[in-house]
Amino acid sequence: MIASIVLAVLIPCLFVYCYKNAYKRPDKFPPGPPSLPVYGAFWIVLFYEFSNLALAFKKIGEKYKTKIIGLYMGPVRTVVLNDPADIKDMLNRDEFDGRVDIIVGRLRSYWKRLGIFFTDGYFWHVQRRFSLRYLRDYGFGRRDDTLESAIECEIKEMLDMRLSGPKFPAEKDLVNGELVYLPHFFAVPFINGLLQVLVRSTFPRSEYHKLWDLSRGVLLFQRSSNDMGGALSLTPWLKDIMPNYSGYNGLVKGHQYLLDFFHNIVSEAIATHDPTYDRHFLDMYIRKMKEEEKLIGRSTYSVDQLVLICSDYMFPTATAVEAVLMFLTERILLQPEIQDKIHEEIDRVVGRNRLPKLDDRRNMPYTEACIREMMRFETLVPLGVPHRATVDAKIGDYIIPEGTMVNPNLMMMNMDKDIWGDPENFRPERFIVNGQLNVALDKSLPFGAGKRLCAGETYARQAMFQVFAGFMQAFHISTADGRPLKEPAPRIQGIITTIPEFWLRVVPR
Ligand code: HEM
Repeated sequence: MIASIVLAVLIPCLFVYCYKNAYKRPDKFPPGPPSLPVYGAFWIVLFYEFSNLALAFKKIGEKYKTKIIGLYMGPVRTVVLNDPADIKDMLNRDEFDGRVDIIVGRLRSYWKRLGIFFTDGYFWHVQRRFSLRYLRDYGFGRRDDTLESAIECEIKEMLDMRLSGPKFPAEKDLVNGELVYLPHFFAVPFINGLLQVLVRSTFPRSEYHKLWDLSRGVLLFQRSSNDMGGALSLTPWLKDIMPNYSGYNGLVKGHQYLLDFFHNIVSEAIATHDPTYDRHFLDMYIRKMKEEEKLIGRSTYSVDQLVLICSDYMFPTATAVEAVLMFLTERILLQPEIQDKIHEEIDRVVGRNRLPKLDDRRNMPYTEACIREMMRFETLVPLGVPHRATVDAKIGDYIIPEGTMVNPNLMMMNMDKDIWGDPENFRPERFIVNGQLNVALDKSLPFGAGKRLCAGETYARQAMFQVFAGFMQAFHISTADGRPLKEPAPRIQGIITTIPEFWLRVVPR
């Protein structure tokens, strides 16, 4: 009897409490779905579109008739920007340069906040500036003949694997007769190119298998987490009760190879360090670290941080650029006329006796436009890398309280009808005027903007051009079974969007 009375009182009270909580939000916070008792509005977002959160937020924006959505993802106060003007504005404002402290960031950096991607404030500013400033000395982020030649050598090896057949056992996993396996077939020129910048040396072909293992590990990491961690980020204790299902094991395992890889390289650089002579970027960093320690007894520069800087630059190098080229090859299989146009341009501008060079870029608007259009058409990081408001800030009429996670919905920007007219069509010609590439027409922001702009944009754009143009110059591509491709592959939504690995038929031209 007493129990029934208690229940009769408790249940309505609980109901009222949940109801009030569901709609509790700060003053002038943007509208959005209510919070459920567990995971807040996360369930509702998943209900709108389980496998594509950027699309879910598009639908939620339509439902709530707002371009700025405010909601609670579990305990995390979150804002999603669907409007291109708001996205551009936010990315360019210092108040939004913070990052959220999430488990995906920590589990890859010895449970500390290290690296460039997931740090902020003074530490991030110093480390980002130092790395970009001194990587530049080794050709990163600018035109550099040594780097271009190093990547060219790697492209020749990549082509030779198919033209002369596998030379080492591990190559048989990627080349089988006329077939090559994507995306890993593309990986070595990008990875060795970055190693040339970081340590002034590259892995020889007999050791490429180590680089493919690295690329496989990083791909596993990227895919083990839905956007920036999903449920695992909201409730980190899931790692203890369902480590496999929550993606935790995949994230750790996938990233460990990268950490070990650079831990060994950094240890070797420290063991052989000579303070009077900088052999490469790592030496510059180690010298700076030792100088600061000597001068003030402590330093923001550390061995672990150096490992994480290398990892942060390598992790998109081993996946993101390959993913773009993979999407592009898939697109060519879907729209074969693109292949003819690329071949025509390469033959006219470069011929077949030398590899395409970066100088050719300006004379190859179609090939360049294909890469640009691919990054617009397929948003690699649909919700960007989340930012954090470091102070109370305004966007439009709304107030975004300090600490709020702010996600730019880059996919909405790339699919905006007002900007593109026909966003659903893959049409490289949209960037070409009077036979010239007009970059001003490219309103997409695949690399973000502002102070958090992707640190590897120039490297990515240059290396993608070199690898893709060299590959297309050498081969005619078609599906493994020779039949026309009718449908794109299902998308895998991880930290970046990818498609399942596949075999591609490549025949010398
Ligand atoms: C097609 C390839 C790539 C795309 C689409 C891409 C895109 C992005 C995006 C959207 C961000 C987040 C920007 C923001 O916070 O608003 C980012 C950050 C970053 N990217 Fe890339 N990226 C690519 C390749 C690369 C490469 C090859 C490197 C390194 C060589 C790189 C290094 C970084 C770093 C270090 C950051 C963190 C910047 C910071 O937080 O200050 N990215 N990238």
